[in-house]
Amino acid sequence: MASSFAISHLLFFIFLFHSPYLTSAVLHTSNATDKLALLAIKAEITHDPLEFFTSWNDSVHFCGWPAVTCGRLHQRVTNLNLANLSLVGTLSPYISNLTFLKGINLELNTFHGRIPAEIGGLFRLRHLNLTNNSFAGEIPANVSGCSSLVLIRLGWNRLTGSIPSQLGTLPKLERVHFHYNNLSGLIPESLGNLSSIKSFSFAVNNFQG
Ligand SMILES: *[C@@H]1O[C@H](CO)[C@@H](O)[C@H](O)[C@H]1NC(C)=O
Ligand SMILES: *[C@@H]1O[C@H](CO)[C@@H](O)[C@H](O)[C@H]1NC(C)=O
Ligand SMILES: *[C@@H]1O[C@H](CO)[C@@H](O)[C@H](O)[C@H]1NC(C)=O
Ligand SMILES: *[C@@H]1O[C@H](CO)[C@@H](O)[C@H](O)[C@H]1NC(C)=O
Ligand SMILES: *[C@@H]1O[C@H](CO)[C@@H](O)[C@H](O)[C@H]1NC(C)=O
Ligand SMILES: *[C@@H]1O[C@H](CO)[C@@H](O)[C@H](O)[C@H]1NC(C)=O
Ligand SMILES: *[C@@H]1O[C@H](CO)[C@@H](O)[C@H](O)[C@H]1NC(C)=O
Ligand SMILES: *[C@@H]1O[C@H](CO)[C@@H](O)[C@H](O)[C@H]1NC(C)=O
Ligand SMILES: *[C@@H]1O[C@H](CO)[C@@H](O)[C@H](O)[C@H]1NC(C)=O
Repeated sequence: MASSFAISHLLFFIFLFHSPYLTSAVLHTSNATDKLALLAIKAEITHDPLEFFTSWNDSVHFCGWPAVTCGRLHQRVTNLNLANLSLVGTLSPYISNLTFLKGINLELNTFHGRIPAEIGGLFRLRHLNLTNNSFAGEIPANVSGCSSLVLIRLGWNRLTGSIPSQLGTLPKLERVHFHYNNLSGLIPESLGNLSSIKSFSFAVNNFQG
């Protein structure tokens, strides 16, 4: 029984990694996907007073676009730094297709709407900096999919609801900054499981208990 189970798994993996359709569907990654995702992020910006996004045009490969950092060899986006550009808009769920992302910095803008739950697909993400925006709604529980997360800065937004207890499953999390929102409920016990933690900042919310 055990060996036929193992063989069927082996065959499945041989099938998986020899099938171009499946590998691209399951892992869905290519440099073209990254370009599409960046353009989708740009498309949800409704106000760009500094005309920053005119620099994201076809005269330059997307790895040369300001605010974008790519890996040297694979030409995939590893960091996106749109901080302090007076941008107004929502954050496209396409950001989750930038599967090589390690850092997102949107601080000091006016992003509104929700933090897309799709962000949980970014398992390489280390820094999520969204401080000083107008993000509203709940912190998606799905952020627990960001298993490499070290820093999560969500201060000075309009977030509501409670802190998802799933945050307590992120083994590398060091800094959690949620100050100046309208979060409520109990601070989940699971956060006591964060063995790498260095700082929590929860001031000026509506917590109980
Ligand atoms: C993606 O990479 C391939 C192979 O390196 C290259 O030919 C193509 O121009 C790249 N496309 C984009 C959008 O960067
Ligand atoms: C296209 O982007 C480049 C930099 O990425 C910029 O120098 C150039 O002015 C832009 N072109 C237009 C027409 O905006
Ligand atoms: C934000 O950008 C403005 C210029 O547009 C600059 O004066 C200010 O110091 C920047 N703030 C931060 C925190 O970087
Ligand atoms: C990228 O993400 C969006 C929204 O999450 C999705 O609809 C789309 O199919 C994804 N894939 C590609 C290859 O763009
Ligand atoms: C915000 O995130 C970036 C990654 O994009 C990181 O390099 C930077 O140090 C962070 N900024 C702050 C103030 O923590
Ligand atoms: C939640 O995150 C997982 C990865 O952990 C991802 O596969 C899934 O698409 C995300 N769900 C939503 C609703 O975005
Ligand atoms: C962030 O927003 C708060 C409230 O609007 C403001 O007091 C603070 O100065 C902002 N931080 C920066 C670096 O601009
Ligand atoms: C914060 O949330 C509470 C309910 O949890 C609500 O009564 C209050 O009006 C909210 N405050 C703001 C400033 O949105
Ligand atoms: C903390 O982690 C342990 C081991 O993974 C688990 O059994 C326990 O339920 C967790 N505690 C909370 C409050 O989530």
